[in-house]
Amino acid sequence: MSNLEQTLSIIKPDAVERNLIEEIKSTFKNNNFKILKDKKIQITKTEAEEFYKVHQTKPFYNDLCEYLSSGPIVVMILERENAISENRKLMGATDPKKAEEGTLRKKYGISIDRNSVHGSDSIENAKIEINFFFS
Ligand code: CMP
Repeated sequence: MSNLEQTLSIIKPDAVERNLIEEIKSTFKNNNFKILKDKKIQITKTEAEEFYKVHQTKPFYNDLCEYLSSGPIVVMILERENAISENRKLMGATDPKKAEEGTLRKKYGISIDRNSVHGSDSIENAKIEINFFFS
């Protein structure tokens, strides 16, 4: 049965800074994702705090929000079958040191903070996150 989903993907400042936008977009396309919408933006710290509010009790919350707002990012709506789980597979583990061979974070990630890409973790959060950037 088909299960077409949409998910939100972010190319984070560390990857934008290293001119990896086209390489990362190509990886998505080569893995059967359609990029329905995309834009390069820079968000404020307040916007980052809103975006990552599920993490507001975590010790890394402040650094995380500082970081996401520290430079340009690319936000994209990706679509394919099982987009949410397929994107998470393609990204690899949050910590690049633990990410599997061939994944985006293994290939490009620098550290757990500078891990190059973000992807929604559930259908519910995908809707919220897509709405956050594209509405
Ligand atoms: P991301 O998928 O964007 O979601 C939250 C981010 O918090 C995560 O990627 C990491 O970059 C960052 N982060 C920093 N420290 C941690 C940690 N200890 N556990 C999980 N995420 C962390």
